[in-house]
Amino acid sequence: MAKIVTFHSYRRGTGRTSILASLSVILARQGKRVGIVDTNIQSPSAHILFKLQDKDIGYTLDNFLWGESELEQTIYDVSKIANSASGRIFLIPSSDNMARIMRVLKEGIDVTLLTSAFSKFDELRDLDFIFLDSSSGITEDILLTMAVADILMVVMRLDEQDYQGVSMILDLAKRLELPRSMVIVNDIHGGYALKEVEKQIGVTFKCEVGGAIPHSDEFLRLASEDIFVLRFPEHPITGTLEKIAAKI
Ligand SMILES: Nc1ncnc2c1ncn2[C@@H]1O[C@H](COP(=O)(O)OP(=O)(O)OP(=O)(O)O)[C@@H](O)[C@H]1O
Ligand SMILES: [Mg+2]
Repeated sequence: MAKIVTFHSYRRGTGRTSILASLSVILARQGKRVGIVDTNIQSPSAHILFKLQDKDIGYTLDNFLWGESELEQTIYDVSKIANSASGRIFLIPSSDNMARIMRVLKEGIDVTLLTSAFSKFDELRDLDFIFLDSSSGITEDILLTMAVADILMVVMRLDEQDYQGVSMILDLAKRLELPRSMVIVNDIHGGYALKEVEKQIGVTFKCEVGGAIPHSDEFLRLASEDIFVLRFPEHPITGTLEKIAAKI
């Protein structure tokens, strides 16, 4: 059975998708089979990081959810990017067509069907991990992607709004009796000692801390054009991401 890791954050733009993409590449390079589902239906972006062009995308997750395609037809092999002999990365993208996004927002999604998609994905591709890129905030479909998680990865920045939001998410995780939750603090600006931040967050939230990642202008300039660990293999942030991957 694949381990389901849900990447969540309270606010938008915390670096969730970038971190998910880097961790997928690290694990694929270790020979793992990683399946990614872009459940961030409102603002999908995983396909951009994995360089899946619009012209290469036929069916997407929403086609499956509306009975317009089989799940098999929504799975794209994006392993090439990781350049690994044995590891694999498969992506189920979401549509970035505005009309389709509006339809999901208006009609909602079939929760049972979405859950069935995760186990089917595992069955079809024999995965070690399923990474879910959830949307931010707390809504019904997010509760679902949280509830199925073996590990909930909460990505936050050092911001008062995030503090309150993350505390709410971790509280929910406790109520859902999730086996494991981990916080990743990202985009930490100069002046903070990373080790100290890690310690403080662990104490404040009484939770496991995956790692503390500093703000980096290189990361900012990447602007989703590439996956960080591929572009900057020797960067200290890559080292931190490798340590986080080892904890999954
Ligand atoms: N540590 C960092 N330092 C500087 N820039 C970063 C850092 N981490 C992520 N970024 C940048 O922040 C931007 C947003 O990242 P990303 O798209 O991964 O966030 P997200 O949480 O998935 O956003 P959304 O809520 O829209 O899905 C990207 O341009 C990314 O390169
Ligand atoms: Mg994202």
